[in-house]
Amino acid sequence: MAFSLDHVVFFGRTWEECMGMYALEASELGGRTILDCAGGPDGLVGGGLERGIDITAVDPQYSEPPDVLDARGRSEIASSMRAWQSDPAVAFEPDVAADYEAKKLEALAAFIAAYRNTPDRFVTGALPDLPFSTGAFDLVLSGHFLFLYASLDDGGMLEHNAFDLDFHIRAVHELVRVGREVRIFPTYTTHGPPRRQPYVEPVMAAMREAGHAVQLTPANWVQGNLTTLNDVLVIRRTDGPG
Ligand SMILES: C[S@@+](CC[C@H](N)C(=O)[O-])C[C@H]1O[C@@H](n2cnc3c(N)ncnc32)[C@H](O)[C@@H]1O
Repeated sequence: MAFSLDHVVFFGRTWEECMGMYALEASELGGRTILDCAGGPDGLVGGGLERGIDITAVDPQYSEPPDVLDARGRSEIASSMRAWQSDPAVAFEPDVAADYEAKKLEALAAFIAAYRNTPDRFVTGALPDLPFSTGAFDLVLSGHFLFLYASLDDGGMLEHNAFDLDFHIRAVHELVRVGREVRIFPTYTTHGPPRRQPYVEPVMAAMREAGHAVQLTPANWVQGNLTTLNDVLVIRRTDGPG
């Protein structure tokens, strides 16, 4: 059966995977205030706080207690891996799939520990209206939500079109409102022939029109077999406060 999803899954990457996908080194992050949006169950807050980095995550699912998110995370890793591996068009080689799943469980464990120990670092909220003041952060990291959860027709993973181009443009304006620099990954499609996700260019044009500096930079992390167009979108605000 062809792979698709009917909702955004609670699924996250480890600290090391996140540094790679955003093309960052931990040494570049000291002294900056950082937002992870959508944080999901990734290892960024746990890994960042361990390194003395000032980092907060936001996600609509952070209204739930740790036990609920732990159970949800485990169940979503198992079910989405099963669905991904049952589609020959996208399935990873078995050893790649096993490593991929192990990393997701590692990220979930780091997330749950941080979520229990530092609950003030996890804020409930959703794009395109975040509960933060303008210029609250120096850097916003946004992984595996924008572009990826476009509809199947637009090369994304969702069966429906809840997050259309208009949503993406509003959401990215909001990320740039709260943070001086924004990094978004991935920018490729996962459905159909490999190509740049079709909202990337119009989002870049909207950001340029608003006066921001925009570029695609190669990521330092390859996800499974997804090696084509492996770039992170970097937007730097060049006007306004913050
Ligand atoms: C796949 S996780 C991404 C985790 C992490 N950033 C990473 O790259 O591994 C996607 C997250 O997007 C969240 N989400 C869904 N709708 C959202 C919205 N409107 N605004 C922000 N986050 C949303 C989901 O709750 C989910 O936790």
